[in-house]
Amino acid sequence: MAKLLVKFVCSECGTASPRWLGKCPGCNAFGTLVEEIAGVEGGRVERRAAAATPVPLGEVSAVEAERLSTGVPELDRVLGGGLVPASLVLVGGEPGVGKSTLLLSALGAIARGGRTALLVTGEESAAQVALRAARVGGSEQVEILAETDLDVVCATLEHVRPDVCVIDSVQTLHAPGIGSAPGSVAQVREAAGRLLRVAKESSVATVLVGHVTKDGAVAGPRVLEHLVDCVLQFEGDRYHEHRVLRATKNRFGSTNELGVFEMTSSGLVGVPDPSELFGRTHSGEIGAAVGCALEGTRPLLLEVQALVSPTDLAMPRRVGTGVDPKRLAMIVAVLGRHAGVALGSADVFVNVAGGVRIEEPGADLAVALAIASAARGVAVVDAAAAFGEIGLTGRLRAASQAERRLEECAKLGVALVLAPEGTPERGGLRVASFDSLRAALRAGLARAAPHADAA
Ligand SMILES: Nc1ncnc2c1ncn2[C@@H]1O[C@H](COP(=O)(O)OP(=O)(O)OP(=O)(O)O)[C@@H](O)[C@H]1O
Ligand SMILES: [Mg+2]
Repeated sequence: MAKLLVKFVCSECGTASPRWLGKCPGCNAFGTLVEEIAGVEGGRVERRAAAATPVPLGEVSAVEAERLSTGVPELDRVLGGGLVPASLVLVGGEPGVGKSTLLLSALGAIARGGRTALLVTGEESAAQVALRAARVGGSEQVEILAETDLDVVCATLEHVRPDVCVIDSVQTLHAPGIGSAPGSVAQVREAAGRLLRVAKESSVATVLVGHVTKDGAVAGPRVLEHLVDCVLQFEGDRYHEHRVLRATKNRFGSTNELGVFEMTSSGLVGVPDPSELFGRTHSGEIGAAVGCALEGTRPLLLEVQALVSPTDLAMPRRVGTGVDPKRLAMIVAVLGRHAGVALGSADVFVNVAGGVRIEEPGADLAVALAIASAARGVAVVDAAAAFGEIGLTGRLRAASQAERRLEECAKLGVALVLAPEGTPERGGLRVASFDSLRAALRAGLARAAPHADAA
């Protein structure tokens, strides 16, 4: 009898090993290696295939298919203008963040638009989904299939050929032909591969819901992320009502678009104007500044708060929520070296309002302004917003798409914009531009302490 070949594969990173190990050599996780059948000894036969003929790219006929609107404008924006037919999208997010809710409302809107929308649920029973549907409303015409058998799901998709299908979640699908348990690397890879084929062949736009690991990455092998066309991350903690959806990979659009939602009892409601929500400060508040960051094509006003408190620690803490820790350390260093805000014996805490994360260097100036305000005990001037990248030399560098940012500031009633030198003027808005961080701080803080100017 032919001997079965087994290998052990890490369920976190996909590293394979010929024998079982307690610790994965790939990602150093413990107890994640699971047995997988790799084939049968001697079962591999060399196959000779006929050569295929490549064609010049110019001769390939391609018509850009019309995108399907999901009926959720914020979701459409993140997808780059709607779902592309026959594409495969992976949506990841922490448990309870609202993945099922978001996708159910999208399916509801798609079904109301006269297309077929199918929800395959392996995680919840049809009755549970019906309860959610009653709460969210408008999803009566969504078809539902409570199934975890991959063969049945694929056969159904080929038969029904819905326009859009949501699989909630890919980790619950189970291919009977594969020995390992649902959720294991082999199963997830098989499920994603088969669904990809069905999506392309039967032209079904498929959305896979994926679990995330403790660090927030989509669980299962990395290959899953390579396989799909888009990877969307649904973020925000369960304790706040605001959720942010962003694309980490998108074969059909930009990856830095951002969608903002609010969780309400009737489901997720898009927040079309997040600046209104996140960009408010109280007049005269010490340690708060408004920044204008750009997320994709979307300018966003955000309140940045800072707290500076004396410490005896040899290594003072720099804690940032919503800002990159390395960027924060750099800003603190530049403040100390080039702007006379010494923070060597102080803990610095920075927080971005609403659980939003800023990744763009254009927000540097606002972070610096908030920290300087907290350090000097002086509020930032009223109704001011700031943007600009801080260089290591203390010089302000021009931020991209300044017009867009200024437009957003004007729309939200900002009176003064602190910006890098070279920022164009805009009617109805006072733009003060500076070449150095020191000069921007001097203008941005309502009443600079006497030692600040001397420094
Ligand atoms: N009656 C309600 N009122 C307000 N919010 C609710 C209500 N019921 C549920 N929620 C919110 O919906 C969230 C659950 O949403 P959902 O089931 O879509 O999350 P999920 O991301 O699919 O979770 P899982 O990973 O467990 O599938 C809860 O965390 C809660 O915030
Ligand atoms: Mg769910």
